[in-house]
Amino acid sequence: MAHAAVIAAVAGHLPPRVVTNHELAEQYDTTDEWIRTRTGITRRHRVDPGMATSDLAAEAARHALENSGEDGADLVIVATTTPDRPCPATAPTVAAKLGLVGVPAYDVAAVCTGFLYALHSAACAVRTGFARRALVVGAEAFSTLLDPADRTTGVIFGDGAGAVLLRAGDSGEPGALDSFDLGSDGTMADLITVRSGGSEEHALRGRPTGGPATDAYFRMDGKPVFMAAVRHMTHSARRVLHDTGWSIEDVDHLVGHQANTRILRAVAEKLGLPSQRALINIDRVGNTAAASIPLALAHGQADGRLRKGDRVLLSAFGGGATWGATTLTWPDLPVL
Ligand code: COA
Repeated sequence: MAHAAVIAAVAGHLPPRVVTNHELAEQYDTTDEWIRTRTGITRRHRVDPGMATSDLAAEAARHALENSGEDGADLVIVATTTPDRPCPATAPTVAAKLGLVGVPAYDVAAVCTGFLYALHSAACAVRTGFARRALVVGAEAFSTLLDPADRTTGVIFGDGAGAVLLRAGDSGEPGALDSFDLGSDGTMADLITVRSGGSEEHALRGRPTGGPATDAYFRMDGKPVFMAAVRHMTHSARRVLHDTGWSIEDVDHLVGHQANTRILRAVAEKLGLPSQRALINIDRVGNTAAASIPLALAHGQADGRLRKGDRVLLSAFGGGATWGATTLTWPDLPVL
């Protein structure tokens, strides 16, 4: 049997502060009803001052290591849109917090697709023997990017982290990651942005015609993002199902990026999957960007929705634009 990377543990971590729709309705011109019916979200978690993305990431990764019974990893990849700072990367900080000084550690930036990009990178490293145990973490302190005057993004995003530990194993065993579909379309870069803080800001200043104003807040053009997310998550899922040799009837759970319950239902419908097979946890965590899929996996494992032998389809869309999908048979994981 061919070598493969296999999921050995999954864990999530949420900052303690819960922010309800009712609280946000005091801050913005919005209502609990609008948020629930347009997004499916009822609450989300937010970091308190003094808590950075690396703190959330390290907690999730620590739980994943505990759940696996392993004492360490030889590769750490952190997918995030909200690194601790622009330079250096957050992953070495996370590795150091775990006592893993000396291991390769790097960040992946693909916004809401970031976890799947990082998972692919780690799976290749494990499959080729470069790493024996790889920690893949999706972590966001997304609230730190939100414009207090923008009700649309203000109600959607939440903070949190999710982590998986990959180990070396065989293709075909439960938990093995064999097929990935990943893609991007940079012509859609303007749909989801944080304009300031990069070299473009300096480049634009030097142009005679100027350019789009720089802006430190997260901006999203909601409607086209909604439509592109449905289209690309569906197409990417179809391509990976084809590569895996599964038909849509084989899929027990669609664990999609938790951007909006209506997006997840639309993707399920386009794929021909009953909507109850779309695993949903956005109601209690909001859109946690790169943390969204591993948090959904951790919650699905903890509450028994994901059971050993279930066939799981992961699919995401995010800024860039980027998208990705993969499949796996859910392994027998310890629940601690
Ligand atoms: N409360 C009340 N009204 C709000 C609101 C809020 N929090 N946010 C927006 N609105 C208003 C808009 O201003 C608009 O008003 P108008 O018709 O008077 O202009 C109205 O609601 C409808 O806005 P629209 O953008 O058409 O709503 P929508 O049904 O597309 O839902 C999103 C908006 C943002 C929820 C939806 O487009 C979405 O989920 N997009 C993708 C989100 C995402 O998570 N992307 C991340 C990467 S994948």
